Amino acid sequence: MKVTFSSPGAANSGAALVISASGEGHAYDSAALSAAAKAADFHGKKGDGFETYAVTGGGTVKLFMRGRGDQDHFDYEMATARVAKSLRGTGETELTVHLDGTDATPVDAARAALGARLAAYVWEKHKSKATKAKKPHLGSITIVSDDAEASQAAYDNYFGPVGDGVVFARDLVNAPPNEIYPKAYADRIETLSEFGIEVEVLGEKKMEKLGMHSLLGVGLGSERESQLVIMKYMGGEKGEAPTALVGKGVTFDTGGISLKPGANMWDMKGDMGGSAAVVGAMIGLAKRKAKANVVGLVGLVENMPDGKAQLPGDIVVSMSGQTIEVQNTDAEGRLVLADALHYAQEEYKPKAMVNLATLTGAIIVSLGHEYAGVFSRNDEIAKELVAAGETSTDLTWRLPMADAYDKMLNSPNADMKNIGGRAAGSITAAQFLGRFVKKDLPWAHIDIAGTGMKNGSKDPREPTFGTGFGVRLLNRWIADNYEG
Ligand code: BES
Ligand code: MN
Ligand code: ZN
Repeated sequence: MKVTFSSPGAANSGAALVISASGEGHAYDSAALSAAAKAADFHGKKGDGFETYAVTGGGTVKLFMRGRGDQDHFDYEMATARVAKSLRGTGETELTVHLDGTDATPVDAARAALGARLAAYVWEKHKSKATKAKKPHLGSITIVSDDAEASQAAYDNYFGPVGDGVVFARDLVNAPPNEIYPKAYADRIETLSEFGIEVEVLGEKKMEKLGMHSLLGVGLGSERESQLVIMKYMGGEKGEAPTALVGKGVTFDTGGISLKPGANMWDMKGDMGGSAAVVGAMIGLAKRKAKANVVGLVGLVENMPDGKAQLPGDIVVSMSGQTIEVQNTDAEGRLVLADALHYAQEEYKPKAMVNLATLTGAIIVSLGHEYAGVFSRNDEIAKELVAAGETSTDLTWRLPMADAYDKMLNSPNADMKNIGGRAAGSITAAQFLGRFVKKDLPWAHIDIAGTGMKNGSKDPREPTFGTGFGVRLLNRWIADNYEG
């Protein structure tokens, strides 16, 4: 996607969106537009809007008029995204957004560009040539604003790179499981070295040596080798402890021997959404040259039933030494994260750690697809993540953790079992993870089962299914709290 910022000037070719505060059409002002505005009862007020065609020197332009009104806050990103989404499938390849004459700041302008870009995203890699050729997509976005230079800088230094991360994450989540399985996924992550990210891949042999039997147990039924991938981006002070980001990367979750029902099982190709958020976040950080040290770890495993698969009742010894009775092989994400979190904490001594995971169906019951659940024993980090959720628009809501929930994981046969029963399913999952993290390390778990995958999302910035949730959140969280 080509993204350009320019100062007010001549009318453009392609489609155009004018955000108008009092009815004016800027570069498109004409008697015909005034007449159309009158017919549409358009005065630039909140909620006003119409579509028309404007004849300009360069040709005829499909023109979207939208009212800015005098409201305190106007969401330029969403307004632009709605128009860009409406152009999906129309064959329109260029969109120019006119923000001049409004109160749009450089950040608003950069966000408008990001909104258009995210809204124009389509997953069509596997459509055959014949299908693809039918309709070209939006390939060029121009934002016209009063301070084009500062807008361009805001985009280049932040929103553009973060957008690259979101798109990368979406592609990973949307990819089919015969394309993104652990080894293929690790290979894909290795390409991140071109952005200055150091990548290390641990295979099953190395993980066995480290004693990661909780993670490895999940992959026992799969023909595909499990992987732990570590990404290092050191843009901060030399020697300063990093922040750790950890992601659940179950490339397909059949449930294992505790097999899931067939309906909608295909959605479980997206059970690596937490890891995709970490990978996308690392891309954003590296491309915008964030002044922070960050390590990203993703546990990549395929959860399959098979003669070699682990059984309900199996007891595994995690790398931490704690033993786990695997009562349900479908509660596998926590088993993967238990070892990944422990390893991240011991190996990198981070000053803070956040993990993301499509961990529980129960979080969808609690929060739907709008907010991700934040779980933490540390009020500070929880507040930071809720605040970063608001500013980044990757919304998060805190749910409780407490000893009473933790007790629900006690097992007569081992140190713990991997399920807590029907009640408070998302919280007991968080408590499970908490058992593998030192109490004094600021740590939070974010359950993105609802926000990472959204079939038929109504948010104009999102495609159907893989949203890339978490990339914007993590970049905001690090930018606001860990960049010197
Ligand atoms: N990957 C699923 C959670 C999930 C469900 C994500 C639906 C997205 C949509 C996870 O591994 C899982 O199966 N969790 C179980 C836990 C249960 C067995 C305690 C669940 O939520 O049912
Ligand atoms: Mn599962
Ligand atoms: Zn899962």
